[in-house]
Amino acid sequence: MKFSAIRTFRDDMGHRFSRVVELGIDDLSPGEVVIRSQFAAVNYKDARAVTGAGNVLKRFPCTPGIEVSGVVESSRDARFRAGDLVTVQGGREFGISRDGAYSEVVRAPAAEVFPVIDGFDPFSVVALGIAAYTSAVAVEAIEKHGTRPEDGEIIVTGATGGCSSYAISMLAGLGYQVVGMTGKTSEHEYLKGIGCVRAVGRDIQTQYTRPLDEQLWAGSIDAVGGAPLDFVLRTMKQRGIVAAFGNAAGEQFTTSIYPFILRSVTLAGVNANHPVASRGSAWRRMTGDLRPQALDKIVHRIAFAELPAHCDALINGGVRGRAVVCFN
Ligand SMILES: NC(=O)c1ccc[n+]([C@@H]2O[C@H](COP(=O)([O-])OP(=O)(O)OC[C@H]3O[C@@H](n4cnc5c(N)ncnc54)[C@H](OP(=O)(O)O)[C@@H]3O)[C@@H](O)[C@H]2O)c1
Repeated sequence: MKFSAIRTFRDDMGHRFSRVVELGIDDLSPGEVVIRSQFAAVNYKDARAVTGAGNVLKRFPCTPGIEVSGVVESSRDARFRAGDLVTVQGGREFGISRDGAYSEVVRAPAAEVFPVIDGFDPFSVVALGIAAYTSAVAVEAIEKHGTRPEDGEIIVTGATGGCSSYAISMLAGLGYQVVGMTGKTSEHEYLKGIGCVRAVGRDIQTQYTRPLDEQLWAGSIDAVGGAPLDFVLRTMKQRGIVAAFGNAAGEQFTTSIYPFILRSVTLAGVNANHPVASRGSAWRRMTGDLRPQALDKIVHRIAFAELPAHCDALINGGVRGRAVVCFN
């Protein structure tokens, strides 16, 4: 059986490059479960792996892609049978140090394979996937902090991105007033369409430069780090909370101590890299009150053949929402 997959290589100079290749099942990393792929997600991390823009992959050659869903073809583990609908959502090994999702057929250890549970189907489990789950964990951090809709606006950075689009839709569904901060001036209407009361450009940062500036936000979900994270910290209201999970604007940021010691601002880190089985209330709530109402506006389907070009566009900031690769 031959099938197509994306393979990322590293040459003698350390340069990484990807191309579509024909593989057989024994070319894939070992595992008990063989899955015919139906859908795969495209995360920021995946685009960095495919384009070589980031140091994501830990083995070469390797097939990137950390989230896939599909139908079991065969299993050497009694928990799965041919025909089962399953998902693999990695980020630690699958699509990092073992062959991952961007392949018409994938093979994974049974411990990393999960049934598609009630409330999801093979498309939605990947369309929502790690991006929506990360946003749901960030939304729960804001709720647990005690920040209520009447406390004021919540600013979401990297607003047109996959995770942030979900965060906006979830917050709006819970009644929060959401402001989307974006670098894409052409996408303000999109942001209003998915739940923002208004959209602001990244240039808003240049209007507020003091270590403690005007108190604008009751909370924030930050997908980008870097200078925008400093901006939201400096413009938080008393007892505000920033739930931060991303690094698209940079891995480092500089700020002062004042938001913390003079306004009691909380910086809450979010690592949502949890196996499906150990995801808590945030995952279950995505079939209920945290289901993004604007799913149809946020998600778009692409063909497997479009994936490399889509990854280039995502790294260059030219993509909005979340793409799902359809294998057939
Ligand atoms: N901690 C975790 O568990 C976890 C889980 C999932 C994802 N993440 C991280 O979350 C972030 C978002 O992931 P994603 O999959 O949603 O990515 P994405 O779809 O590419 O969204 C990222 C968004 O960030 C903004 N952006 C890009 N480059 C920027 C720059 N140089 N300066 C400022 N803003 C920039 C863009 O939005 P605008 O054009 O609208 O500004 C872009 O759409 C990534 O850093 C990813 O690694 C973390």
